[in-house]
Amino acid sequence: MSDAIHLERRAVPDGTVAVPGDKSLTHRAILLGALAEGVSRIDSPLDAADTRASAAVARALGARVAWREGQGATVEGHGASGLTEPSQLLDCGNSGTTLRLAAGMATGLPAGALTVLTGDASLRARPMRRVVDPLARLGAQAWTRAAGTPPVAVRGGGVTGGAVETAVPSAQVKSALLLAGLLGRGPVRVAERVATRDHTERMLAAMGARLERSGLATTVFPGPLRPLAHRIPGDPSSAANWWVLAAITGGRLVTPHVLLNPARIGLLAVLRQAGAEVHAEVEDEVPEPVGTVAVAHRGPLSPIRWDPADVPTLVDEVPLAALLATQAHGRSRLDGLSELRVKETDRLHEVARGLSLLGAQVVEHADALEILGPTPLRGAALDSHGDHRLAFVWAIAAAIAEGGVDLRGAAAVSVSYPGFWEALAGTGAVAVSQVPSAAAAGPSEQTGKIGQA
Ligand code: S3P
Repeated sequence: MSDAIHLERRAVPDGTVAVPGDKSLTHRAILLGALAEGVSRIDSPLDAADTRASAAVARALGARVAWREGQGATVEGHGASGLTEPSQLLDCGNSGTTLRLAAGMATGLPAGALTVLTGDASLRARPMRRVVDPLARLGAQAWTRAAGTPPVAVRGGGVTGGAVETAVPSAQVKSALLLAGLLGRGPVRVAERVATRDHTERMLAAMGARLERSGLATTVFPGPLRPLAHRIPGDPSSAANWWVLAAITGGRLVTPHVLLNPARIGLLAVLRQAGAEVHAEVEDEVPEPVGTVAVAHRGPLSPIRWDPADVPTLVDEVPLAALLATQAHGRSRLDGLSELRVKETDRLHEVARGLSLLGAQVVEHADALEILGPTPLRGAALDSHGDHRLAFVWAIAAAIAEGGVDLRGAAAVSVSYPGFWEALAGTGAVAVSQVPSAAAAGPSEQTGKIGQA
C-alpha cells in the first residue's frame, strides 16, 4: 500500500473482523520471555513494527528470538544473569513501550554494562525523565539528554530497591520500575495515583515472580521467572476502530477473541453512554479476560463525558472517541487528556485539527476537547504525521465523510495493525485506493479553523 491513499465511503458495515494480537501483551511476552530461564512460546503475537522492535532489543540483550512471519514466536532466555551488554545502540523505532520497559531491564545487566536506547524522530522527542528519575531514586544509574528525551543511557548493576510513586499515569513507566525491581537487589514498591493497565503484573505473577498487590501499589521481589506459553488475544485498541465504525455508520460489527482487561476497555462504557448497543462476553479469565465484543447502533448518539481518572482505560482510543462525539447530539467534553500531547505526535492538537478540517466543531483546551455535534463530516486532505492512531481515526472518519478523504502517511498503520487497510476494505464501509504519486507529493493539508480555549 502506497503512503498516500484515497478513502471513499461505501456501505453500512455488518460482519465480523478478527483483529491482530494485543500490542501491549506481545511486547511484554517477548521482553519478559527474555528474562526467563528457558523457552517461552508466544502464539498469535502481534507481528508489527513496534513488537519487532522489542524482539530486536531482546536479542541484543542476549535472548534468542525465533519469529517466522504468520507463525508464533519463541523466546529463549537465560535468566537475569544471562543478560548481556549490547554492542550497539538499541533502536526502539517508534515504540515507547520497548524503550521504557527495556530501560528498566537494562538496570539488571552486570555492573558497569552500558545500554543506550534510542528510536525514530518521534520517539526521540518523547519524555523519558518520567522513567529515568524514579529508576535513579531506586539506586540505578540512568540518564537522558538535557531535554529529558532519548537517547536514554542505563548502567547495569541492579537497583538497590525502595518505594516510588509514578508522577504520571503510565503503564510503561510502572512496568519499567517493576522489571528493575525483579532484577535488582531489594524489593521495589511502585504506587500509582490512577490505575493503569496491569499486564506486567499479571504476566510476572503467571511466570512465578513474587508480587504483592494492594490497591494502587505493587511490590515486586527480586527472583527468577519461569518461561510461559502465551496465546495473545486480539488487541482491543485495534478492535476499537471497528466498534466506532459500527457506531457512527449505524452498522454492526463483531470482534471475536479480544482482550477484555477492564483497564483497557473504557471505550465500551463510552459507546454505551453514547447510546450504542454493546455486547461484551468474557469467555476466558486467566491470565487476562478475553471475549467477543459486538457493537451496533440504533437511534441518535448522545454526547459523552468522562472522569479524567478513567482516561488510562481508553488512552489510545481518545481519537476514536472524539470522532464519535462529532456525531453525538449535543456538547461532549473529553477531559484529562494532557498525556495525549506526548504520544507519537501531539495527538490532542492533531485530532482537533483533523476533525476541524473534516468540518466538525471542536475546541482544543490545554488538556481537553470540547466537541459540539452532530456535524455531517466533509472530505478533507489529512496526514497521519507518522502516528498510527491518527491514520486509523482518519480512515474510520472516511466512512461518514461526504467527498472522500485523502490520507498521507498511510503506512503508519504498520506500527500496530499491518493488515488494517485490507481489513477496512473488507468491512465494505470504505473503498481504499492509491493516490497517483504526483498528487501525493503536493501540499497535504487544507487550512482548518480550530477554536482555541
Ligand atoms: C502502553 C501504555 C500506554 C499506551 C501505549 C501502550 C503499554 O502508554 O498509550 O500505547 O503497553 O504499557 P503510557 O504508559 O505512556 O500511558
